Amino acid sequence: RGGSAGSGGALTFEPVEQNLLDELVTPAGYRYSVVMRWGDPVERGAPEFDIDRQTPEAQAKQFGYNCDYIGFLPLGDRGDRFLLVVNHEYTNEQLMFSGVTGESSPTTAEQKRIAMMAHGISVVEVKRRGNSGEWRPVRNGDRNRRITADTPMELTGPAAGSPYVRTSADPTGRVVLGTLNNCAGGMTPWGTTLHGEENFNQYFGATTAVTETAQEPRYSRYGISTTKPAGRRWDEVDPRFDLAREPNEVNRFGWVVEVDPYDPSSTPKKRTALGRFKHEGANVQIAEDGRVVAYSGDDERFDYIYKFVSKKRYRSGTDRASRAHNLTLLDEGDLYVARFTGDSPGSEIDGSGRLPSDGEFDGTGQWIPLVKDGRSMIPGKDVAWVLTFTRLAADRLGKELDAQGDLTTPEKVVDASKVPTKMDRPEDIQVNPVNGYVYAALTNNSNRTVADEANPLNRSYAFSTDEQGAGRYREEKGNRNGHVIEWRETQGAAGEAFEWRIFLVAGDPQRPETYFAGYDKSKVSAISCPDNLEFDPAGNLWISTDGSVLSRVNQGEGTVGGANDGLFAVPTAGLERGHLKAFLTVPLGAECSGPLITRDARSVFVSVQHPGETTGSTREAPSSTWPDRRQERPFPRPSVAVAYREDGGRVGS
Ligand code: FEO
Ligand code: CA
Ligand code: CA
Ligand code: CA
Repeated sequence: RGGSAGSGGALTFEPVEQNLLDELVTPAGYRYSVVMRWGDPVERGAPEFDIDRQTPEAQAKQFGYNCDYIGFLPLGDRGDRFLLVVNHEYTNEQLMFSGVTGESSPTTAEQKRIAMMAHGISVVEVKRRGNSGEWRPVRNGDRNRRITADTPMELTGPAAGSPYVRTSADPTGRVVLGTLNNCAGGMTPWGTTLHGEENFNQYFGATTAVTETAQEPRYSRYGISTTKPAGRRWDEVDPRFDLAREPNEVNRFGWVVEVDPYDPSSTPKKRTALGRFKHEGANVQIAEDGRVVAYSGDDERFDYIYKFVSKKRYRSGTDRASRAHNLTLLDEGDLYVARFTGDSPGSEIDGSGRLPSDGEFDGTGQWIPLVKDGRSMIPGKDVAWVLTFTRLAADRLGKELDAQGDLTTPEKVVDASKVPTKMDRPEDIQVNPVNGYVYAALTNNSNRTVADEANPLNRSYAFSTDEQGAGRYREEKGNRNGHVIEWRETQGAAGEAFEWRIFLVAGDPQRPETYFAGYDKSKVSAISCPDNLEFDPAGNLWISTDGSVLSRVNQGEGTVGGANDGLFAVPTAGLERGHLKAFLTVPLGAECSGPLITRDARSVFVSVQHPGETTGSTREAPSSTWPDRRQERPFPRPSVAVAYREDGGRVGS
């Protein structure tokens, strides 16, 4: 199986060592520079950043906090000017503000408003430095833009205007203020960006208890508290974050947002046809027949992988009419959820990661429709309901339902072949441009007790420190290091069937449960918690990590505490398939996200998200001072960095 990575795409760099440095570490022969930091001016008129005199008005024009997904769209055809489009997933108030001691410590109204303005998306024009792989921001670029938790956006598609999304401020159910917790994303062939609203639940709660029925847990199935206000208490400055006052506001978050970065006055669109869940992101490809296929993971333990297929076909022209047409593609189509069926006897999957007798964790898969040809596949529930409460809809597939379309108690499976597969936290999903295979990162699942062939671990090794401060690997319940699964659509990209296999089982390669596509494990780097995926033009897979539970020294007993997250690269085809190597590591406390490799393969952008997010780390005593290294009262700044070869050559070589 698989295509060739091509001789031009060999990964010859010397891997970086695991470390706990407060620095971004690249291989020999590489450099990095910081492109945009939290607080850097974005929009015209933005003031210079001053952490001790920050205001909501300043932050609304400056680069937001906790950069994540990175999109990169060309300006002109000379290859030296682009738009960098960056998500700002969430805020770390204890690192942003004096006097905030922990994640749930009280904040002032002003601090809450600053945090709201630090969420959202940035669009920043960047320019190549000379003929290098380095990029610099363009101050006051014409298209520079901030989108925040207050920016008006339009709900579009079948759930727009439905009773589930109407509020007192917006009885039409079509105009929403802001986007929240934008994690991963994708670029479309028609020059827009897609942004997944992930853990939107953490902004909503109830100041007085609200009710939901056991048959229809619209809030609790999404992790939204019906009895407590949200930890951030944004309801104190904006009542829409209180379920008791606005029961439907929360239903207006959890969507995929489409932004046209070329038009700074455009209204972002929340595309309801792609369903509502904790969207890690969305990546599109054009099927053989021109329909648009978008994959999206729901990042929760035991949640699902989804696929949207548009009704209309993509038009390849760059003229105004074609683009206007393409901007409607994500508003109408079919929504599917994935079922993975293993081909090895179930008794062979014992949860230890031992390979089954056929030598692979693999099998066949089915895309099970939730919405098809404009109709709901859940009897008793309309299309808008399926799209707004997609998790509830997916839970009903293959089960006995009552007359209202609700699950009977106890739940009864009537057609096991229609029950979707509960996965180990589906994160980013990306299509290999060389061979069309699809790759999904499953970041971890500490709660898994029953393994299946697609999620084969119920115990694994993780590094932790005991009360005496002694660190070591311990066998723990569940899949602590995550895995990566690959599949091939067997009826065309828009079809309903696929073949899958596990590409790698992450962890310390010295541990028996790990698997690197069959490659010699003595030659690979340790990796933990795969999160965002990216391909270079040669078809090598690049994997960034979030939440590594590895140790710095790979020797089990007597180890030294933990290891920073980073970015890894691995060939997906040929003799080197599975030869994974660490390309860079990010500073202390950070996750590595948003990897973006330019199409000339000379630059790799990464988001250094939440540097200094470690236990007890605060504005007064931060554990990271990257990247500014201020002498007086230092603090970390989440930043987008670009790594490039000193000689301007291809990254990975
Ligand atoms: Fe924001 Fe699922 O990572
Ligand atoms: Ca098998
Ligand atoms: Ca992520
Ligand atoms: Ca993550």
